[in-house]
Amino acid sequence: MRFLLLLSALGIGLAAHARDLFVNTPSTTLMLEANNGQPLRVVYYGERIDGAEADAVRRAGAVSWEAYPAFGAGCQDETALAVRHADGNTTTELAITAVSQTEENGARITRVEMRDRVYPLTVAVVYKATDASDVIETWTEITNGERRKAIQLRQYASAALPLRQGDVWVSHLHGSWGAEAQLTAEPLRPGMKVVKNTDGVRNTQTDHPHLMLSLDGQPSENTGRVVAAALCWSGNYRMRIDTRGKHLHHFIAGIDETHSAYTLRAGQTLRTPELALTYSNRGVGEASRSLHRWARAGKVHGGTRLRDVLLNSWEGVYFDVSQPGMDEMMRDFAALGGELFVMDDGWFGTKHRRTDDRAALGDWKTDTLKLPGGVPALVRSAESHGIKFGIWIEPEMTNTRSELYEKHPDWVVCSHTRTPIQGRGGTQLVLDMSNPKVQDFVFSVVDNLMIENPKLAYIKWDANMSIVNHGSHYLTADRQQHLYVDYHLGLRATLERIRAKYPDLVIQACASGGGRANYGLLPYFDEFWVSDNTDALQRVYMQWGTSYFFPSLAMASHVSTAPNHQTGRRIPMKYRFDVAMTGRLGMEMQPKHMNDGEREFAKQAIATYKRLRPTIQQGDLYRLISPYERRGAASLMFVAPDKHQAVFFAFKTEHFVDMAIPRFRMDGLDPNATYRLSEINRQGRAQRWEGMTAKGSVLMQSGLELDLGGEWASRAVLLEKL
Ligand code: DGJ
Repeated sequence: MRFLLLLSALGIGLAAHARDLFVNTPSTTLMLEANNGQPLRVVYYGERIDGAEADAVRRAGAVSWEAYPAFGAGCQDETALAVRHADGNTTTELAITAVSQTEENGARITRVEMRDRVYPLTVAVVYKATDASDVIETWTEITNGERRKAIQLRQYASAALPLRQGDVWVSHLHGSWGAEAQLTAEPLRPGMKVVKNTDGVRNTQTDHPHLMLSLDGQPSENTGRVVAAALCWSGNYRMRIDTRGKHLHHFIAGIDETHSAYTLRAGQTLRTPELALTYSNRGVGEASRSLHRWARAGKVHGGTRLRDVLLNSWEGVYFDVSQPGMDEMMRDFAALGGELFVMDDGWFGTKHRRTDDRAALGDWKTDTLKLPGGVPALVRSAESHGIKFGIWIEPEMTNTRSELYEKHPDWVVCSHTRTPIQGRGGTQLVLDMSNPKVQDFVFSVVDNLMIENPKLAYIKWDANMSIVNHGSHYLTADRQQHLYVDYHLGLRATLERIRAKYPDLVIQACASGGGRANYGLLPYFDEFWVSDNTDALQRVYMQWGTSYFFPSLAMASHVSTAPNHQTGRRIPMKYRFDVAMTGRLGMEMQPKHMNDGEREFAKQAIATYKRLRPTIQQGDLYRLISPYERRGAASLMFVAPDKHQAVFFAFKTEHFVDMAIPRFRMDGLDPNATYRLSEINRQGRAQRWEGMTAKGSVLMQSGLELDLGGEWASRAVLLEKL
């Protein structure tokens, strides 16, 4: 059914409230004021209301601001759009010309067309809402309507949103290699808060383009109003919150326009990346669950599919791959109940061999000295062990020591008048994804592998360098500043081609660890690597932060060896498994180095995970005790959507004599149902509560005392509704 409401420029048939537009999700409403001849305004974002309440919202004093403020007239505030028109004029004044609300493929699309009062510039502000989650996606489509001349976009954010001042806090993720996704929260003070990334390639190794705005003071898991925002973009971004005066915070998010003014040819349209917004009046926990539902319903590739348990070879053998070595790892992993083996770096390069990180990126031909039978022999070998096979590539990159670079030195990102600074291994460079020939090449890397190995089940797609040498041999002199944007549009176009041909291939986004955890890429990737740091204790913190915005099934979480290769810490296998089981479980170690006890434990834990993964991967996450609160323990649980099952986890994060251990109060259960508790991944004697039955309300209100006496104590508990 297609419902179309068209308000013409003459304002025909406007009812008393026709100027109010409602973008509704099951529990939220974004209310807009859309008067013809005026700019679009946001007047309300919160709990769901209907038309009858619109008047009350207005009379009570709406929080009103332009939905897409443009620079040039009344421009004392921060702006989302700044245009240099064809004649050099830098002012823009947008006014509504048409509004439509349509239904497309199960989504409700609200489209507000605005046009500059003088120049033939049009901007459509678009909102997309569905019944699958409480997330609204919004973006703009900016069109240069000039007949012949180009215009320049100097700012082209995705969206703007007003927030009433009060005691508003912002939570976001920041970090660095090995310590990604660290959660931080702070109150918004007068002045500008900016969260940005200028890496060019890996946009989440430092800060993330995701925010939680807690409107009622310090962020709380279950109480208070929260607006969450996630920018669906893989490149440089800038999220600004300007706090001026005493009334509003002005929030604007989009591509970082620094060094990226964008020229639009006559007739050309730029569609800005979506900003996903959700509102919760039950704290950051519900905001996360809404984002998780939205992600699983389509914003993560294969979001409704269950993920395999995999072993990645990296920490097991690093570059030292060989046919017998891979075969042995596959055999050992299959014996543990594993389902998929991934051969990481080190398998390719013939003229220049990939024996370390200094050569061969771009030469995606098997090193037959290491692997005489090539990839096909490995796929066969995996099959003979009853598991699937996956492989590592880094297709957007090259080394100066590679046949690719020898043939195509002009394919790399750099200024043609300068010697490029080289990255990893002293030889790495980034390929220029704005160049269609490079896009074809990157597509062919995957395509060739798949043509040769139709049963290849998984690709780990890595990216280990930033754009440190700005410049493109492909882009014309007057388009050099498009590089940061066109790189990612080119990458997206390539991924679209790959997905059109290979929808079932599982692909992991990796970028020196957690450099690519973003919803610009996740529609094409099934998961991302959270961090190169596999230390279970540090993972408790990183995965906690990551869970604010991403569902567990997208978070690759691997059990590695002890002592840990990044921190040197020796953490028992049970704790390592318990932590890894709160994401997409995998292993990243040499199975033959495990002792019999560890092997037996791993086997049982993998079997348990496989049994419970529908709840862990597709259930609702309830965060119970934050590691960031430094209470000595962290705890979270997953509850199946119909609440018939839940899986609870608790991890000790500190260890002192006579330390206080909190009581664990659960959440998300059916209060009236009775649940049976049984410990999973158990080592040692049964706990007092083993086999106990209790009402959901008791477990949630009164909670459970856990024995977390020893160092590295952790508990995992299955709750089954009777
Ligand atoms: C960086 C990744 O983050 C690691 O997991 C591993 O794949 C290496 N690259 C391989 O070079």
